[in-house]
Amino acid sequence: MSDIQNNAAPELDIRPLHPALGAAVTGIDLAQPLAPETFEALHQAWMEHLVLVFPRQAVSDEQQIAFARQFGDLEVHHQDIIRSNSAPEIFRVSNVTDDGKLMDPDHASVAQISLAQRWHTDSSFRPVPSKGSILHGLEVTAEGGQTWFTNMYKVYDALSADQRRRIEGRKACHDFGHLATLAPIKPLSPSEREAMPPVWQPMIRQHPVTGQKSLFISPIYNNAVEGMDDEAALALIAELAELAEDEAFVYRHIWSPDDIVMWDNRCTMHRVTPYDLGLRRVMHRATIVGDGPVVAGAP
Ligand code: OGA
Ligand code: MN
Repeated sequence: MSDIQNNAAPELDIRPLHPALGAAVTGIDLAQPLAPETFEALHQAWMEHLVLVFPRQAVSDEQQIAFARQFGDLEVHHQDIIRSNSAPEIFRVSNVTDDGKLMDPDHASVAQISLAQRWHTDSSFRPVPSKGSILHGLEVTAEGGQTWFTNMYKVYDALSADQRRRIEGRKACHDFGHLATLAPIKPLSPSEREAMPPVWQPMIRQHPVTGQKSLFISPIYNNAVEGMDDEAALALIAELAELAEDEAFVYRHIWSPDDIVMWDNRCTMHRVTPYDLGLRRVMHRATIVGDGPVVAGAP
C-alpha cells in the first residue's frame, strides 16, 4: 500500500530523463483515481515530455485499465493470442501464454511480438490510430529488452530540405498485413483483411493538443508512399527511421519490475531491443483510442 492518500497534484515529482523526451514521475499512486488537478498536471507533463515513467507501480490489470480509462476509451485487440483472456483491454506483449507457459521461440505470436524490435507507433494501421499506450513491466529481462523512444517532433525539425520535399503533402500507407511480409506469421484471413483495410495517413501530422508538427511513419506497417514505387517508398521509410534513431532524439528505457511507462503515439515511435527468448518477459499494455482522424500538418 502506498501512503499517498488522494493523488493531489502537489505531491507529483517530475524529473526529465533525457534532453529530447522522457520524465520519471513519482509521488503518485496509479492504483487510485486521480484528483482532477493531478490529472491536469499529469496530462500537461505527458504533453511536455511525451514519455512518462512511473517506477514501482505494482497495479493489477484492472487498476491499470482504470488508470488508462481516465485518458480515453481503450482498444481491444483483434487477435486472441495477444488479447488477455481475463481483461480484454490488456494487450499481452509477452513470450509467455495467458496461463503462464513460456512459448516456443518459433511460435507465430513470438515472431509477431518480436517485430516490435523495429521502430513503430502502436495501432497506426487503424483509421484512427491510438492516442497513447501504457505498458506495465511484470516480468522484465536483465539484459536486452530495453524500450527505446524517439521524439518525432524533433525528427521532423531535423529533416533535410530534400527529405522535406519528398514527404511534404504525401501520405504513407499503414497496413497491418505488412507484418506478414517481415516475419513468419500467418497472413491475414479474408475476413481480417476486410476488417482491417490498409489506411493512408499524412506523413506530417499536427498534434491535436500541442499543435506541433511531427513526422508520422510506422515502419513495421508502412508498405507504400503516395506517388512512389514500392522500392523507393521502402527506401524512404528506412532512411527516415534511421534519422529517428539518432541518439539526440532517443530515450532508452531500462526496465525494472513494476515500472509503468506511458507514451504518446501521436508524436513518438518506439522499439524494443532484442533479448533472450529463452527467458520470460511479460508486459501488459493498455492502448488508448485516438481522439480523431490524423490531421495533416500544413507545409
Ligand atoms: C508495445 C511495444 C515494446 C516492449 O508495447 O507496444 O512495442 O518493450 N513494446 O515490449
Ligand atoms: Mn509497440
